[in-house]
Amino acid sequence: MVQFQAQFKPELKPKPMPGLSDRQLNDHFDIKYKGYVTKLNEIQTKLKGVNKEAPSPNYSDIRELLVERLFNYNSIKLHEAYWQCLAGASDPPEPIKQMITEDFGSYNTWKEEFKACGLSARGWSICAFDLDTGRLFNFLTDNHSIGAWNVIPLMIMDMYEHAYYIDYGGTVKRYVEEGFLPNMSWKYAARMLERHPLSEYRTSLLEKAA
Ligand SMILES: [Fe+2]
Repeated sequence: MVQFQAQFKPELKPKPMPGLSDRQLNDHFDIKYKGYVTKLNEIQTKLKGVNKEAPSPNYSDIRELLVERLFNYNSIKLHEAYWQCLAGASDPPEPIKQMITEDFGSYNTWKEEFKACGLSARGWSICAFDLDTGRLFNFLTDNHSIGAWNVIPLMIMDMYEHAYYIDYGGTVKRYVEEGFLPNMSWKYAARMLERHPLSEYRTSLLEKAA
């Protein structure tokens, strides 16, 4: 058996950009993101030897390890997508633009909701494609451990204070307006579109639902 170990991926480190200082980005990437990878791997190692004879939803060693594994693993997934969404402003690929227009009315209406979603969140604002309905949703989550299932995130905005506090202190709106949105890249979403037949899923699911 080869046990899964997460890899720290230095190649995902965002390039310098307006609106977010190197100090802010370095702290976020080299300390926070790396910390999640280190802890996930520590948990993976401990899980191998943990006592599985007395599991309990109130307290048990295996429960604590599994709770924190979800926290760290989701955090790694979301951060790795977030770095790729901070890659210089770009427009959504045409199929996603069309989905946004159909589901939200217009790109600007989507952006307004995505921004408000972020400013209402303590953790993340995530635009995701739902594989069960073929629709796009802006999901708010306050914690890495809480999220929607069976969805493919396309646009991810980190709203934890560690994402902006060095540059913007408590003025989170400036982080969104000056730090994230001007650098918001759809290249990650385009890669997801190449990997998954989202337009085909959507057409088939919307036809079924009609
Ligand atoms: Fe973060």
